[in-house]
Amino acid sequence: MTITLPAFDQLENSLWLTLCGRALDNRRDHPLLGDELADQIVRTLDYDYRSLKISPSSAIYIAHRALKLDQISQDFVSRHPDAIGLDLGAGLDSRAHRIELPATADWYDVDFPEVVAARGQLVPVHPRAHDLAADLANPSWLDTIPSDRPAVVVADGLLAFFPLAEWSAILNRIIDHFPSGEIAFNGYSTFAVKAAKIFPIGKAVREIMRSEGFDDPRTPEQWNPKLELVKEILMTREPEVEQFPAGLRWANKLSAPSESLSRRGNVVLHYRF
Ligand SMILES: C[S@@+](CC[C@H](N)C(=O)[O-])C[C@H]1O[C@@H](n2cnc3c(N)ncnc32)[C@H](O)[C@@H]1O
Repeated sequence: MTITLPAFDQLENSLWLTLCGRALDNRRDHPLLGDELADQIVRTLDYDYRSLKISPSSAIYIAHRALKLDQISQDFVSRHPDAIGLDLGAGLDSRAHRIELPATADWYDVDFPEVVAARGQLVPVHPRAHDLAADLANPSWLDTIPSDRPAVVVADGLLAFFPLAEWSAILNRIIDHFPSGEIAFNGYSTFAVKAAKIFPIGKAVREIMRSEGFDDPRTPEQWNPKLELVKEILMTREPEVEQFPAGLRWANKLSAPSESLSRRGNVVLHYRF
């Protein structure tokens, strides 16, 4: 089968970093996430992942935060079998395939039309998952999604691309649309925003980063009175760190006691509304 991908702009091209990170994690002897579909897509395209210069530790961090968002999604749909799942800026991720969706749930992968066209060629069909081609900055993207069911909303690697005022407007529209739900995304601290401008891993995104970042996990609670922090997941303290290779494991264990050091790294923020 010949695959001809649409031309991606720089923003859309950011999906390769996370996709290839998960694929590289899958190639380790003991993958953290085990995202075989990501690996398969990278192999199918013979994508030049080396050009992204993803270090082994970055691949593990990318897989780790995807795993946390999977766990939050899985837990929610298990408690709410009629749930709506939303993956904002889904790229070529196939979360619906990694979790067990009840037959009565519906999952929506939202991204720009070019990315959705690529998904149609590369991500296998899932009976409960739907692709939605939309610009999240356009308020009408939620119009076709049922509004009478609880929702779990995840965004992996997306916050970086919105100034906080725009990001909070997106969250407010979601909160207004659904009766209740949970929202989880990986955070970007003010340090992480600065670091992306300096370190090689940030090369793919530094010109398109628009977030100012924030350090206090309670900041989003000020955007909407219904939004309540469930947990600031400091990844240095999560049990999966035990599965990291020795050097990375010890670096994480050394950082774990310090909230401020841990916040500088991989963080997943989890809220309910
Ligand atoms: C870093 S990638 C992450 C992709 C995916 N979440 C993953 O983990 O592989 C960011 C994604 O957000 C999408 N994106 C950025 N801004 C968007 C917007 N305004 N509307 C829809 N998608 C957007 C990009 O096209 C890209 O696919």
